[in-house]
Amino acid sequence: MATVSDIKNELQSVVYPGFQKSIMDFGFVKEVEIVDAQSCAIHLEITSSAADVENKLKADITACLGKLGFTNIAVAIKKPEAPKQQSNSMSGKNVAPQIKNFVMVSSGKGGVGKSTTTVNLAVAAAMQGKRVGILDADIYGPNIPRMMGLQGLEVEVVGNKAKPFKAYGVDVMSMGSLMDEGQALIWRGAMIMKAIEQLLRDILWEELDILFIDMPPGTGDAQLTLAQSVPVTAGVNVTTPQHVALDDSRRSLDMFKKLHIPIAGIVENMSGFICPNCQTESDIFGQGTCEELAKTYGTQVLANIPIEPGIRVGGDEGKPIVYHYPQSQSGKRYMRAAENLIAQIDNVNANGGASNAEIQPTTPPGVSACSTAGASKPQHNHEHKSGGCGCN
Ligand SMILES: Nc1ncnc2c1ncn2[C@@H]1O[C@H](COP(=O)(O)OP(=O)(O)OP(=O)(O)O)[C@@H](O)[C@H]1O
Ligand SMILES: [Mg+2]
Repeated sequence: MATVSDIKNELQSVVYPGFQKSIMDFGFVKEVEIVDAQSCAIHLEITSSAADVENKLKADITACLGKLGFTNIAVAIKKPEAPKQQSNSMSGKNVAPQIKNFVMVSSGKGGVGKSTTTVNLAVAAAMQGKRVGILDADIYGPNIPRMMGLQGLEVEVVGNKAKPFKAYGVDVMSMGSLMDEGQALIWRGAMIMKAIEQLLRDILWEELDILFIDMPPGTGDAQLTLAQSVPVTAGVNVTTPQHVALDDSRRSLDMFKKLHIPIAGIVENMSGFICPNCQTESDIFGQGTCEELAKTYGTQVLANIPIEPGIRVGGDEGKPIVYHYPQSQSGKRYMRAAENLIAQIDNVNANGGASNAEIQPTTPPGVSACSTAGASKPQHNHEHKSGGCGCN
């Protein structure tokens, strides 16, 4: 008669739908019970609420355990509640209406872990059954292709639009994939605006529940253009816990307010260090400092992510930790943060949805916001001077 370990071995061949890993490797199989030579029961806990995923798993498990002689196989699957029907507000401008929700991942300064956070939150949301995309809008230093294992791939053009890549169940497009590798562009204001709009409008984004957008650091033209082009449902601020970093973080949170972006929370990154040898957690930059900042802005800390070598290696090798090591401290915390973020998006939509109507340019139709009538003629009157943004 087959044993529990025979069953577990056999279940290694059952791949989680949409991914390349088995349900055993994901740690989704919680219990295996043998009743008699023909009957057994398998208990699973999965991260997707989609009925298709459940049905496919039941069929695959039944087929695979049939090989061990089981004819009566009970498969019980615990899954998260189905997402509520979303009613995303269409008020204001939306150049990519097939995308239900936009999440802007921002930080006051560079190198704090925005791209790492974007990748892991997006993959976590996909693992929870959402249709997810990542737009790498960091035109100065696009890192998403490397972090998603897509470096050096040719972009496929269909008609006059570029097709996103797919990795870890996530649709991905990056400025890095559209420029030559290592090329540095000098961006002027008007070019930034055009590039951001094109990344939303001229990419063949499918219908998505959430598009995560990895922003360049700071609070500039890219952030403003994004918020004026689509209604941003949630802003996620990434910061490290030392006080100097928090000063920059305030600027980024103020920006969300000015742009009418609902703040979903702060990710406190590099919050402590987990030793890969002994797993003890030690404080490096100070921990827990974001709690107070979050309160000031009426929001919350979505996650405290420690410095974990696996995160950096995952970024360099294109293997997001939440996917490859879901049982790691950081993997679990990213998963919880994504759950929390999804709940907040549902909440924003239940309360009327996001709108960017208030931040649309107020110049009359046909007149560019930065070239007022007569700007081409030299003006000596200060009040009528052109804005000097360089786009005309
Ligand atoms: N929690 C962490 N533990 C270990 N390494 C991390 C962690 N977070 C980020 N890193 C590493 O730190 C570096 C910077 O992170 P990342 O590129 O995500 O920051 P960023 O804010 O997007 O930077 P930039 O402003 O340059 O775009 C990367 O090498 C990344 O792998
Ligand atoms: Mg980055």
